Amino acid sequence: MLGIIGAMEVEVESLKAMMDDAQVIQKAGMDFYRGTISGKEVVVVKSGIGKVNAAICSQILVDVFQVRAIINTGVAGSLNTEIKICDIVVSTEALEHDMDVSPLGYEKGVIPDMPVSCYPADEALRELAKNSVKAAGLEIGVFDGRVVSGDQFIATPEKKDELRGFFKGDCAEMEGASVAHTAYLNEVPYLIIRAISDQADGKAEMDYPTFEKKAAENSVKLLVEMIRAY
Ligand code: ADE
Repeated sequence: MLGIIGAMEVEVESLKAMMDDAQVIQKAGMDFYRGTISGKEVVVVKSGIGKVNAAICSQILVDVFQVRAIINTGVAGSLNTEIKICDIVVSTEALEHDMDVSPLGYEKGVIPDMPVSCYPADEALRELAKNSVKAAGLEIGVFDGRVVSGDQFIATPEKKDELRGFFKGDCAEMEGASVAHTAYLNEVPYLIIRAISDQADGKAEMDYPTFEKKAAENSVKLLVEMIRAY
């Protein structure tokens, strides 16, 4: 069973629509759609926005559905000038950029008493994603990248510079690292696939609504080919 999380309806609606034999199970106010896509067993769920929702959702996928892996699909703001709107980032790792215990001497982003604070994505899932790009027929760039997540929509050059300069992020969003964190604690492989809806700058609030749907569809297109080959 493969667990697939999107934060918003636009990020999962087409996946739900293509499922066969879908059954809906409700937990923690979330609708988990269990069924098959291309004959592969999947659970598709909208977690809601932000790190807490995504962490709770991920833990349910592990405990209730015993998923073998979790993939987070959706949109993100680009932090890397090479990665343009509608391009895709396949995560190399993910960290929580709003974790800040620096007054106690910890580097920003470091979670005290955790062995790691930046969670590597599963290499086999990354390979699967790369091998699926051609079949997905996407005429866009697909990049490896570090995903940085926080409970903030990034829309200023100053914040963007910090996430790029200090955290070395390639894209910013609001859930991926908490999916990664939960996957890490449960020793479950995970991957984040995010298509770019905006550039996390002063134009982000205008670009986001314009490109959200197209970007979300690009992420799903790659994911569907991955599921087929899984
Ligand atoms: N998701 C899409 N764009 C984003 C941004 N600029 N900041 C945070 N999450 C996002």
